[in-house]
Amino acid sequence: MSVADEAGQALSPAFSDAYATVYQGDCESVLPQLPAESADSIVTDSPYGLTMIDEAKTRAALDQWLSGNDSFVPDGAGFMSNEWDRFVPPPATWRAAARVLKPGGYVLCFAGSRTVDLMMLSLRLAGLHIAGTTEWVYGTGMPKASDVSRTIDRHLGHEGEVVGSRLVDTSIRNQNLHSGSRTAMMVTQDVRSLSALAQPWEGWYPNLKPAHEPVIIAQKPREDGSVDSRKVPPFRYIAKASTSERPAYFDEEGNEVSHNTVKPVAVMKWLVSLVTPVGGTVLDPFVGSGTTCEAATLVGVDSIGIELDAKHIPLVVARMTSKDLWGGSLFDWNMQ
Ligand SMILES: C[S@@+](CC[C@H](N)C(=O)[O-])C[C@H]1O[C@@H](n2cnc3c(N)ncnc32)[C@H](O)[C@@H]1O
Repeated sequence: MSVADEAGQALSPAFSDAYATVYQGDCESVLPQLPAESADSIVTDSPYGLTMIDEAKTRAALDQWLSGNDSFVPDGAGFMSNEWDRFVPPPATWRAAARVLKPGGYVLCFAGSRTVDLMMLSLRLAGLHIAGTTEWVYGTGMPKASDVSRTIDRHLGHEGEVVGSRLVDTSIRNQNLHSGSRTAMMVTQDVRSLSALAQPWEGWYPNLKPAHEPVIIAQKPREDGSVDSRKVPPFRYIAKASTSERPAYFDEEGNEVSHNTVKPVAVMKWLVSLVTPVGGTVLDPFVGSGTTCEAATLVGVDSIGIELDAKHIPLVVARMTSKDLWGGSLFDWNMQ
């Protein structure tokens, strides 16, 4: 698909093959340049805003959105200090995405279980009809905090006796693009006895971390305002993406580059096929390492992806030209 920027220059895709086209840039600038009503569905894993969103921040965003400044996003940083994750996309972004969607088309949008309220509101304020939610359940909800007993003993300066050992996996990836291989590095660590004060707290983690992520189901109403009512499975259990599903490469400084929020291809195949008709086109304005495009190719539909960060584009290329997909060389692809 050929699109033009504000100055009328054709925007070149950062990657394209027979089925998928990926643009590098801010979706707020790229979306207005895509033809209206050209996508059959939107399936996306957009920024969740996984940061401290208190009452003041929530009120500030809602005040701005409701007073007409609906592209407002509060300052800050989100998941793993990523600036792009500082808040959910504002209504103006969803409105720009909805313009590209055919009337009656569905939006399936992942959200964080603790910020799904804001994501849903933002979609609503963009004029989308909220049909409900389904869930990706993954069953590993490791709390993101220390065991309280260890924290107590660190505070007390209690070292304890060595009472055993455990194996810890510190494996590193080998220097290949689609990182199927790792160098196994299992190290042995001492397990030490706890103080009397710490013992009752062994295994107690203060942060509860749900092992599921909601997927909001929204629909662009047709011209007459009508929407559909379709049955959707309430959840799907799929394990988190394995290492072999997470592309990685080494940049010029020798630093490993990977994406830290990769969704499993199986999850994206499920969602893409749920709402994209055979021969249709799915749009993902926040495509990251390109999982939605890989899933779309695997289920036989066309896809358009947009990704803000240039360093993620080689991950898209690695994924889309991987032997695991179609053999890569079967398709022409090009990188800027
Ligand atoms: C949650 S990640 C998507 C990960 C993807 N599902 C995967 O499996 O690789 C969201 C992505 O959106 C990108 N992003 C954030 N804001 C954006 C924007 N305004 N325009 C385009 N991409 C954006 C980020 O760089 C990030 O890669």
